[in-house]
Amino acid sequence: MQAKATEEECCDPPILEVNNLSVIRSGKIVLKDVDLTVHKGEFIGLVGPNGSGKSTLLLSILGVLKPHTGSISIYGNVPNPRNFFGRIGWVSQAASYLPQQVKLSVRELVMLGTINSENLFSWFVSGRKERVSEAIKMVGLEDVENMDVSRLSGGQRQRAVIARALVTEAEFLLLDEPLVGMDRDARNSLLKLLDQLCHNSGKTILMVSHDLTAIRQTAHRMIFLEEKIRFDGPTSLFPDLETLADLRGITPAHDSPVQIQEIPWAEEVSE
Ligand SMILES: Nc1ncnc2c1ncn2[C@@H]1O[C@H](COP(=O)(O)OP(=O)(O)O)[C@@H](O)[C@H]1O
Ligand SMILES: [Mg+2]
Repeated sequence: MQAKATEEECCDPPILEVNNLSVIRSGKIVLKDVDLTVHKGEFIGLVGPNGSGKSTLLLSILGVLKPHTGSISIYGNVPNPRNFFGRIGWVSQAASYLPQQVKLSVRELVMLGTINSENLFSWFVSGRKERVSEAIKMVGLEDVENMDVSRLSGGQRQRAVIARALVTEAEFLLLDEPLVGMDRDARNSLLKLLDQLCHNSGKTILMVSHDLTAIRQTAHRMIFLEEKIRFDGPTSLFPDLETLADLRGITPAHDSPVQIQEIPWAEEVSE
């Protein structure tokens, strides 16, 4: 007998379906046998050691990198980096390092998100101003909207970049290490914002982070990636450190168990 479909499976086709994906970079297998299904409204934390293929997976979903084997379907289409179908917002870590010499206000930066190949040369796009104001409000930057982006704090800059993704009216946000370089308050308020976007605005979020503690407090579902997906499930079931080491094939160096103080892979990541 067939297993009973969950509510999500019966009502909504998945936003993203990755089947048996493998990706090769510089002749080396970086991702192998990756299967992943994402439904609308999910907040997924993608974690794993440095070099484990997290950014590679996001770039494959965006269509920047091509599968070696397997397939990816996003909103029913093959990924295309030149056309996000107006539904995918991409926030890379590098996005917050905006060039210092470019003078741009927060409002102008967010406005750039409204430009696409169809409206590039038209002065008037209906509702553009309102959409920009709304996105700025969503990320809580109204007070600094006319300030030069270079004068913002790291956390504010990351928020401005997220507003630029939101103004596209993206439904699915892919964020690569957005918490890097943020202090505790900025990190907490960004996580709160993302949580609200997920719950109140129906956004779907796939976020890479090496800050395991922070992401576990926010994401509903966690994926641990190291070449393959080694864990995929509800955050409450995310394995403890010992099980994690086991999943990674790390054997204890000592005969008697030692107390693990640090997350075994977090230290590999330099901020
Ligand atoms: N531009 C690139 N060209 C070739 N190989 C790359 C490139 N970027 C990353 N890699 C390799 O792909 C693997 C996965 O990298 P990446 O997806 O960036 O890992 P993560 O985001 O988990 O730190 C690493 O072994 C890395 O050396
Ligand atoms: Mg990365």
